[in-house]
Amino acid sequence: MTPANPDLPRQVKMVEVGPRDGLQNEKQPISVATRIGLIDRLSAAGLPVIETGSFVSPKWVPQMASSEEVLAGIERRRGVTYSALTPNLKGYERALEARADEVAVFGAASEAFTRKNINCSIAESLERFAPLLERAAKDGIPVRGYVSCVLGCPYEGEISPEKVAEVSAALLEMGCYEISLGDTIGVGTPERAKRMIERVATRVPVEKLAVHFHDTYGQALANIYAALQMGVAVVDSAVAGLGGCPYARGASGNVASEDVLYLLQGLGIDTGVDLDKLVAAGNFISAELGRESSSRVARAMSPA
Ligand code: HMG
Ligand code: MG
Repeated sequence: MTPANPDLPRQVKMVEVGPRDGLQNEKQPISVATRIGLIDRLSAAGLPVIETGSFVSPKWVPQMASSEEVLAGIERRRGVTYSALTPNLKGYERALEARADEVAVFGAASEAFTRKNINCSIAESLERFAPLLERAAKDGIPVRGYVSCVLGCPYEGEISPEKVAEVSAALLEMGCYEISLGDTIGVGTPERAKRMIERVATRVPVEKLAVHFHDTYGQALANIYAALQMGVAVVDSAVAGLGGCPYARGASGNVASEDVLYLLQGLGIDTGVDLDKLVAAGNFISAELGRESSSRVARAMSPA
Protein backbone atom coordinates (compact mmCIF):
# COMPACT_ATOMS: atom_id res chain seq x y z
CA MET A 1 0.00 0.00 0.00
CA THR A 2 1.61 3.27 -1.07
CA PRO A 3 0.54 6.41 0.74
CA ALA A 4 -0.99 8.97 -1.58
CA ASN A 5 1.38 11.54 -0.14
CA PRO A 6 4.97 10.51 0.63
CA ASP A 7 5.19 13.20 3.31
CA LEU A 8 2.59 11.45 5.45
CA PRO A 9 3.48 8.65 7.89
CA ARG A 10 3.25 5.15 6.40
CA GLN A 11 1.84 3.75 9.61
CA VAL A 12 -0.27 5.23 12.36
CA LYS A 13 -0.83 3.86 15.86
CA MET A 14 -4.49 4.27 16.78
CA VAL A 15 -5.01 4.67 20.52
CA GLU A 16 -8.59 3.79 21.45
CA VAL A 17 -9.83 5.86 24.37
CA GLY A 18 -13.56 5.08 24.14
CA PRO A 19 -13.81 2.74 27.15
CA ARG A 20 -12.21 5.48 29.30
CA ASP A 21 -12.67 8.95 27.82
CA GLY A 22 -15.93 7.84 26.23
CA LEU A 23 -17.62 6.15 29.12
CA GLN A 24 -16.29 8.41 31.92
CA ASN A 25 -18.76 11.07 30.84
CA GLU A 26 -21.95 9.00 30.52
CA LYS A 27 -24.84 10.03 32.73
CA GLN A 28 -26.30 6.53 32.89
CA PRO A 29 -24.56 3.75 34.80
CA ILE A 30 -22.59 1.37 32.61
CA SER A 31 -22.13 -2.18 33.77
CA VAL A 32 -18.77 -3.87 34.05
CA ALA A 33 -20.05 -6.47 31.55
CA THR A 34 -20.75 -3.77 28.95
CA ARG A 35 -17.34 -2.20 29.48
CA ILE A 36 -15.70 -5.59 29.04
CA GLY A 37 -17.87 -6.37 25.98
CA LEU A 38 -16.74 -3.13 24.37
CA ILE A 39 -13.04 -3.67 25.08
CA ASP A 40 -13.10 -7.24 23.76
CA ARG A 41 -14.77 -6.10 20.53
CA LEU A 42 -12.19 -3.32 20.14
CA SER A 43 -9.28 -5.71 20.58
CA ALA A 44 -10.92 -8.08 18.07
CA ALA A 45 -10.95 -5.18 15.59
CA GLY A 46 -7.14 -4.98 15.86
CA LEU A 47 -6.68 -1.81 17.89
CA PRO A 48 -3.16 -1.90 19.30
CA VAL A 49 -3.76 0.24 22.41
CA ILE A 50 -6.98 0.37 24.41
CA GLU A 51 -7.51 2.67 27.39
CA THR A 52 -9.61 0.46 29.61
CA GLY A 53 -10.49 2.81 32.46
CA SER A 54 -9.11 5.09 35.16
CA PHE A 55 -7.84 4.60 38.67
CA VAL A 56 -9.00 7.98 39.90
CA SER A 57 -11.11 8.88 42.91
CA PRO A 58 -14.54 7.26 42.48
CA LYS A 59 -16.01 10.34 44.14
CA TRP A 60 -14.70 12.45 41.27
CA VAL A 61 -15.54 10.09 38.39
CA PRO A 62 -18.00 7.42 39.53
CA GLN A 63 -18.28 5.92 36.03
CA MET A 64 -14.71 4.68 36.22
CA ALA A 65 -15.12 2.87 39.54
CA SER A 66 -14.69 -0.89 39.10
CA SER A 67 -11.88 -0.45 36.57
CA GLU A 68 -10.17 -3.33 38.44
CA GLU A 69 -13.07 -5.63 37.58
CA VAL A 70 -12.96 -4.51 33.97
CA LEU A 71 -9.27 -5.36 33.64
CA ALA A 72 -9.84 -8.67 35.40
CA GLY A 73 -12.67 -9.64 33.05
CA ILE A 74 -11.32 -8.83 29.60
CA GLU A 75 -9.92 -11.38 27.22
CA ARG A 76 -6.29 -10.32 26.88
CA ARG A 77 -5.22 -10.52 23.27
CA ARG A 78 -1.55 -10.84 22.45
CA GLY A 79 -0.01 -7.66 21.11
CA VAL A 80 -2.66 -5.37 22.59
CA THR A 81 -1.66 -2.83 25.23
CA TYR A 82 -4.34 -2.36 27.89
CA SER A 83 -3.75 0.99 29.55
CA ALA A 84 -5.36 3.05 32.31
CA LEU A 85 -5.33 6.60 33.64
CA THR A 86 -3.58 7.18 36.97
CA PRO A 87 -3.51 10.62 38.64
CA ASN A 88 -1.21 9.73 41.54
CA LEU A 89 0.75 6.94 43.22
CA LYS A 90 -2.40 5.49 44.74
CA GLY A 91 -3.94 5.18 41.27
CA TYR A 92 -0.73 3.67 39.94
CA GLU A 93 -0.71 1.00 42.64
CA ARG A 94 -4.32 0.09 41.84
CA ALA A 95 -3.49 -0.10 38.12
CA LEU A 96 -0.46 -2.29 38.75
CA GLU A 97 -2.49 -4.62 40.95
CA ALA A 98 -5.08 -4.85 38.16
CA ARG A 99 -2.30 -5.71 35.67
CA ALA A 100 -2.57 -2.68 33.40
CA ASP A 101 0.18 -2.89 30.75
CA GLU A 102 0.66 0.85 30.64
CA VAL A 103 -0.55 3.87 32.59
CA ALA A 104 -1.11 7.52 31.77
CA VAL A 105 -0.69 10.62 33.88
CA PHE A 106 -2.75 13.63 32.90
CA GLY A 107 -1.75 17.24 33.24
CA ALA A 108 -2.80 20.37 31.40
CA ALA A 109 -1.44 23.58 29.94
CA SER A 110 -4.05 25.54 31.89
CA GLU A 111 -3.85 26.29 35.62
CA ALA A 112 -7.62 26.64 36.00
CA PHE A 113 -8.39 23.36 34.24
CA THR A 114 -5.74 21.51 36.26
CA ARG A 115 -7.37 22.78 39.45
CA LYS A 116 -10.88 21.71 38.33
CA ASN A 117 -9.77 18.33 37.01
CA ILE A 118 -7.21 17.11 39.54
CA ASN A 119 -7.48 19.69 42.33
CA CYS A 120 -3.96 21.13 42.22
CA SER A 121 -1.71 23.54 40.31
CA ILE A 122 0.35 22.52 37.27
CA ALA A 123 3.53 22.54 39.39
CA GLU A 124 1.88 20.39 42.09
CA SER A 125 0.58 17.97 39.45
CA LEU A 126 4.13 17.43 38.19
CA GLU A 127 5.30 16.86 41.78
CA ARG A 128 2.60 14.20 42.19
CA PHE A 129 3.55 12.48 38.96
CA ALA A 130 7.26 12.28 39.87
CA PRO A 131 7.07 9.38 42.38
CA LEU A 132 4.64 7.55 40.06
CA LEU A 133 7.10 7.82 37.17
CA GLU A 134 9.96 6.66 39.39
CA ARG A 135 8.01 3.61 40.52
CA ALA A 136 6.85 2.82 36.97
CA ALA A 137 10.44 3.01 35.70
CA LYS A 138 11.47 0.45 38.34
CA ASP A 139 8.49 -1.77 37.48
CA GLY A 140 9.09 -1.47 33.72
CA ILE A 141 5.63 0.03 33.12
CA PRO A 142 5.51 2.60 30.30
CA VAL A 143 3.87 5.91 31.18
CA ARG A 144 2.06 8.13 28.72
CA GLY A 145 1.63 11.83 29.52
CA TYR A 146 -1.46 13.80 28.57
CA VAL A 147 -1.48 17.55 28.22
CA SER A 148 -5.03 18.92 28.14
CA CYS A 149 -6.29 22.26 26.82
CA VAL A 150 -3.59 22.54 24.17
CA LEU A 151 -5.74 24.70 21.90
CA GLY A 152 -8.01 26.35 24.43
CA CYS A 153 -9.38 26.07 27.95
CA PRO A 154 -13.00 26.20 29.10
CA TYR A 155 -11.96 28.52 31.95
CA GLU A 156 -8.94 30.48 30.66
CA GLY A 157 -9.73 30.73 26.93
CA GLU A 158 -6.63 30.89 24.75
CA ILE A 159 -3.57 28.89 25.74
CA SER A 160 -0.12 29.76 24.44
CA PRO A 161 1.76 27.08 22.46
CA GLU A 162 4.77 27.91 24.63
CA LYS A 163 2.91 26.77 27.76
CA VAL A 164 1.92 23.53 26.00
CA ALA A 165 5.57 22.98 25.01
CA GLU A 166 6.73 23.66 28.57
CA VAL A 167 4.38 21.13 30.21
CA SER A 168 5.03 18.56 27.46
CA ALA A 169 8.80 18.90 27.90
CA ALA A 170 8.45 18.52 31.68
CA LEU A 171 6.48 15.27 31.28
CA LEU A 172 9.02 13.94 28.78
CA GLU A 173 11.94 14.77 31.07
CA MET A 174 10.18 13.01 33.94
CA GLY A 175 10.06 9.82 31.88
CA CYS A 176 6.84 9.77 29.84
CA TYR A 177 7.54 7.88 26.63
CA GLU A 178 4.77 9.58 24.68
CA ILE A 179 2.97 12.91 25.04
CA SER A 180 -0.65 13.13 23.95
CA LEU A 181 -1.76 16.66 23.10
CA GLY A 182 -5.41 17.06 24.04
CA ASP A 183 -7.78 19.54 22.47
CA THR A 184 -10.11 18.89 25.37
CA ILE A 185 -12.92 21.17 24.23
CA GLY A 186 -12.43 20.70 20.49
CA VAL A 187 -11.94 24.35 19.58
CA GLY A 188 -8.80 24.01 17.44
CA THR A 189 -8.49 24.50 13.69
CA PRO A 190 -5.75 23.05 11.44
CA GLU A 191 -3.32 25.97 11.12
CA ARG A 192 -3.46 26.68 14.86
CA ALA A 193 -2.95 22.99 15.54
CA LYS A 194 0.09 23.01 13.26
CA ARG A 195 1.61 26.04 14.98
CA MET A 196 1.08 24.45 18.38
CA ILE A 197 2.65 21.14 17.27
CA GLU A 198 5.54 23.03 15.67
CA ARG A 199 6.28 24.73 18.97
CA VAL A 200 5.97 21.55 21.02
CA ALA A 201 8.22 19.73 18.54
CA THR A 202 11.07 22.10 19.44
CA ARG A 203 11.04 20.46 22.90
CA VAL A 204 9.63 16.95 22.27
CA PRO A 205 10.59 14.87 19.20
CA VAL A 206 7.60 14.55 16.90
CA GLU A 207 7.89 10.72 17.02
CA LYS A 208 6.92 10.95 20.69
CA LEU A 209 3.81 13.04 20.10
CA ALA A 210 0.21 11.88 19.86
CA VAL A 211 -2.86 13.97 19.12
CA HIS A 212 -6.16 13.76 20.98
CA PHE A 213 -8.96 15.78 19.44
CA HIS A 214 -12.46 16.19 20.75
CA ASP A 215 -14.86 17.04 17.95
CA THR A 216 -16.99 19.76 19.54
CA TYR A 217 -16.72 22.10 16.56
CA GLY A 218 -16.39 19.40 13.90
CA GLN A 219 -12.72 20.19 13.23
CA ALA A 220 -11.10 17.01 14.51
CA LEU A 221 -10.50 15.20 11.21
CA ALA A 222 -9.09 18.34 9.60
CA ASN A 223 -6.83 18.80 12.63
CA ILE A 224 -5.69 15.18 12.46
CA TYR A 225 -4.82 15.59 8.79
CA ALA A 226 -2.78 18.67 9.70
CA ALA A 227 -1.00 16.72 12.47
CA LEU A 228 -0.18 13.88 10.05
CA GLN A 229 1.38 16.45 7.74
CA MET A 230 3.57 17.50 10.66
CA GLY A 231 4.75 13.89 11.06
CA VAL A 232 2.59 12.88 14.02
CA ALA A 233 1.89 9.15 13.77
CA VAL A 234 -0.13 8.42 16.94
CA VAL A 235 -3.81 9.35 16.96
CA ASP A 236 -6.29 9.00 19.84
CA SER A 237 -9.97 8.44 19.14
CA ALA A 238 -13.09 6.90 20.66
CA VAL A 239 -15.32 4.40 18.91
CA ALA A 240 -18.76 5.81 18.04
CA GLY A 241 -17.41 9.27 18.94
CA LEU A 242 -18.08 8.69 22.62
CA GLY A 243 -16.62 10.99 25.17
CA GLY A 244 -16.04 14.20 26.97
CA CYS A 245 -14.43 15.36 30.15
CA PRO A 246 -16.66 15.81 33.21
CA TYR A 247 -14.50 18.77 34.25
CA ALA A 248 -14.69 20.58 30.90
CA ARG A 249 -18.20 21.85 30.38
CA GLY A 250 -19.21 21.79 26.72
CA ALA A 251 -16.59 19.24 25.75
CA SER A 252 -18.27 16.81 23.39
CA GLY A 253 -17.12 13.41 22.24
CA ASN A 254 -13.75 12.40 20.96
CA VAL A 255 -13.30 12.12 17.23
CA ALA A 256 -14.85 8.78 16.20
CA SER A 257 -12.37 5.95 15.65
CA GLU A 258 -14.32 4.71 12.63
CA ASP A 259 -14.01 8.15 10.98
CA VAL A 260 -10.28 8.34 11.74
CA LEU A 261 -9.73 4.86 10.31
CA TYR A 262 -11.67 5.71 7.14
CA LEU A 263 -9.51 8.82 6.71
CA LEU A 264 -6.27 6.86 7.26
CA GLN A 265 -7.34 4.10 4.87
CA GLY A 266 -8.18 6.73 2.27
CA LEU A 267 -4.68 8.17 2.68
CA GLY A 268 -3.14 4.71 2.24
CA ILE A 269 -1.83 4.67 5.82
CA ASP A 270 -1.52 1.31 7.56
CA THR A 271 -3.08 0.82 11.02
CA GLY A 272 -3.78 -2.92 11.31
CA VAL A 273 -7.39 -2.14 12.28
CA ASP A 274 -10.41 -3.76 10.58
CA LEU A 275 -13.09 -1.19 9.73
CA ASP A 276 -16.06 -3.60 9.68
CA LYS A 277 -15.18 -4.98 13.11
CA LEU A 278 -14.60 -1.48 14.46
CA VAL A 279 -18.02 -0.39 13.20
CA ALA A 280 -19.51 -3.47 14.88
CA ALA A 281 -17.86 -2.50 18.19
CA GLY A 282 -19.26 1.02 17.87
CA ASN A 283 -22.73 -0.27 17.04
CA PHE A 284 -22.56 -2.55 20.10
CA ILE A 285 -21.89 0.28 22.52
CA SER A 286 -24.36 2.62 20.81
CA ALA A 287 -27.08 -0.03 21.22
CA GLU A 288 -26.10 -0.52 24.87
CA LEU A 289 -26.34 3.23 25.46
CA GLY A 290 -29.58 3.40 23.49
CA ARG A 291 -28.55 6.08 21.03
CA GLU A 292 -27.26 6.59 17.53
CA SER A 293 -23.51 6.47 16.94
CA SER A 294 -21.80 9.82 16.48
CA SER A 295 -19.57 8.28 13.81
CA ARG A 296 -20.52 9.42 10.32
CA VAL A 297 -18.74 6.40 8.83
CA ALA A 298 -20.58 3.97 11.11
CA ARG A 299 -23.90 5.54 10.17
CA ALA A 300 -23.05 5.36 6.46
CA MET A 301 -22.01 1.72 6.76
CA SER A 302 -24.90 0.55 8.95
CA PRO A 303 -28.26 0.24 7.19
CA ALA A 304 -31.14 1.63 9.26
P1 HMG B 1 -8.28 15.21 45.92
O1 HMG B 1 -9.64 15.24 46.54
O2 HMG B 1 -7.50 16.49 45.86
O3 HMG B 1 -7.34 14.05 46.49
O4 HMG B 1 -8.46 14.65 44.43
P2 HMG B 1 -6.88 13.59 47.89
O5 HMG B 1 -5.49 13.05 47.71
O6 HMG B 1 -7.10 14.68 48.90
O7 HMG B 1 -7.89 12.38 48.18
C1 HMG B 1 -9.26 12.54 48.39
C2 HMG B 1 -9.92 11.18 48.47
O8 HMG B 1 -9.77 10.50 47.21
C3 HMG B 1 -9.28 10.27 49.52
O9 HMG B 1 -10.31 9.40 49.98
C4 HMG B 1 -8.29 9.46 48.72
O10 HMG B 1 -7.98 8.24 49.30
C5 HMG B 1 -9.06 9.27 47.41
P3 HMG B 1 -11.13 9.69 51.35
O11 HMG B 1 -10.07 9.74 52.39
O12 HMG B 1 -11.84 11.02 51.14
O13 HMG B 1 -12.09 8.53 51.42
N1 HMG B 1 -8.17 9.04 46.27
C6 HMG B 1 -8.28 7.98 45.44
N2 HMG B 1 -9.13 6.94 45.41
C7 HMG B 1 -8.94 6.04 44.44
N3 HMG B 1 -7.97 6.12 43.49
C8 HMG B 1 -7.11 7.16 43.49
C9 HMG B 1 -7.25 8.14 44.51
N4 HMG B 1 -6.56 9.26 44.80
C10 HMG B 1 -7.12 9.80 45.88
N5 HMG B 1 -6.17 7.24 42.57
C11 HMG B 1 -7.66 13.43 42.53
C12 HMG B 1 -7.34 14.49 43.58
C13 HMG B 1 -6.58 13.51 41.48
C14 HMG B 1 -7.67 12.07 43.20
C15 HMG B 1 -9.07 13.75 41.93
O14 HMG B 1 -9.08 15.08 41.53
C16 HMG B 1 -9.41 12.87 40.75
O15 HMG B 1 -9.59 11.68 40.91
N6 HMG B 1 -9.52 13.48 39.54
C17 HMG B 1 -9.79 12.70 38.33
C18 HMG B 1 -10.44 13.56 37.30
C19 HMG B 1 -10.62 12.79 36.03
O16 HMG B 1 -10.52 11.58 35.99
N7 HMG B 1 -10.90 13.52 34.94
C20 HMG B 1 -11.11 12.93 33.65
C21 HMG B 1 -9.86 12.43 33.00
S1 HMG B 1 -8.86 13.71 32.25
C22 HMG B 1 -9.52 13.88 30.65
O17 HMG B 1 -10.57 13.36 30.37
C23 HMG B 1 -8.71 14.61 29.63
C24 HMG B 1 -8.01 13.67 28.63
O18 HMG B 1 -8.95 12.87 27.95
C25 HMG B 1 -7.21 14.49 27.61
C26 HMG B 1 -8.03 15.64 26.96
O19 HMG B 1 -9.11 15.37 26.41
O20 HMG B 1 -7.52 16.75 27.03
C27 HMG B 1 -7.02 12.74 29.33
MG1 MG C 1 -10.13 13.54 26.26
